[in-house]
Amino acid sequence: MLTVEQIAPRRIIPVVVIEDYLLATPLRGALIGGGLQCAEITCRTSAAIEAITAMAEDPDFLVGAGTVTTADQVERVVRAGARFVVCPGLSAAVVRACADAGVTCVPGTVTATEVMRAVELGVTTVKFFPAETNGGLAAITALGGPFPDVRFVPTGGIRLSSLGTYLASQAVAAVGGTWLTPLEAQRSGDFASIERLVAEAMAVAEDAA
Ligand code: 3PG
Repeated sequence: MLTVEQIAPRRIIPVVVIEDYLLATPLRGALIGGGLQCAEITCRTSAAIEAITAMAEDPDFLVGAGTVTTADQVERVVRAGARFVVCPGLSAAVVRACADAGVTCVPGTVTATEVMRAVELGVTTVKFFPAETNGGLAAITALGGPFPDVRFVPTGGIRLSSLGTYLASQAVAAVGGTWLTPLEAQRSGDFASIERLVAEAMAVAEDAA
């Protein structure tokens, strides 16, 4: 099973809301062009499963599924080619379904109780969601006190301007966000601007390294 560090060695996970699966291949090209080899496709649109299938055609590109809330969904996204699963919250059923399927699960947590429950379920890298409305880096740093072995993937409200602050923390395994793949750019086929957004984020990540 892949670690989050293996999934996102550059410490950025683009969270993709995709409306048209035909855009998955050019979108993957833009992410790779900007310097990233992974994407989380959110299961919020009817195009998600086909988009995962299309992105998974490149074996060097790690595609995962986001917004996964049920064990049934785990089965569907893994069948489509997802190598990791991200959840907005913590569900034991989803964590167990991922373990059974042999894929990495990154469940969402906000409180110490949720982090404890995740650790009980064998998870040591959790999503911290929604990050900005729940105390941001200050909250992650506070949670890192009692849980020095847990690493966080803050997501929710993060943009280029706050990326570097999060990445400066060793408690942060990676940062996720939708700002890298805006729907307007996808709709207008402006993949060059997506590539630029990714490249900008990569430059920030390199400075934080
Ligand atoms: C997620 O599902 O992780 C969030 O919707 C991402 O939040 P953002 O849109 O503020 O980046």
